[in-house]
Amino acid sequence: MLEEIITHSAEETTDWGRVFAKRLSPPLLVLLSGDLGSGKTTLTKGIVGGLGAASEDHVTSPTFTLMHVYGSREKVYHADLYRIENFHDFETLGMEDIFLDPAIAILEWSERFTLRTPWPQIRVRLEHLGGDNRRITIS
Ligand SMILES: Nc1ncnc2c1ncn2[C@@H]1O[C@H](COP(=O)(O)OP(=O)(O)OP(=O)(O)O)[C@@H](O)[C@H]1O
Ligand SMILES: [Mg+2]
Repeated sequence: MLEEIITHSAEETTDWGRVFAKRLSPPLLVLLSGDLGSGKTTLTKGIVGGLGAASEDHVTSPTFTLMHVYGSREKVYHADLYRIENFHDFETLGMEDIFLDPAIAILEWSERFTLRTPWPQIRVRLEHLGGDNRRITIS
């Protein structure tokens, strides 16, 4: 089943992420896809904030660091797979530590390869619609 919404500003996307977060419980992979600048990190700010794992201002793009960890008891991972070629790289970089305990893992560029994990997954696609408009599709 597809669910679709359109946002008209970065703030609206973050707001929606905060509400969306209420539906998420660990263990879960949140697979984000969408072009550069489509709003994956912006949305993640809202999700992480909504989960109560960190303040939105502290959520920054893991473009160079590859992975950020928020929260204490229940962890929220935020990773960017843009520079990672395959599952082997993912393991070599220690990123599979995500799966040690039930957590919520939010992955940007998740379409780059398939992760081998039995965890439930929710896919969120972001698309540019011109200007500040974005379509967000959940499946
Ligand atoms: N409706 C909107 N939703 C989300 N971001 C928006 C929207 N309108 C404008 N923006 C702007 O678009 C940019 C989105 O950047 P963001 O870093 O979230 O994208 P990204 O998908 O994570 O990109 P990358 O693939 O480079 O990591 C921000 O500058 C944000 O302010
Ligand atoms: Mg990003």
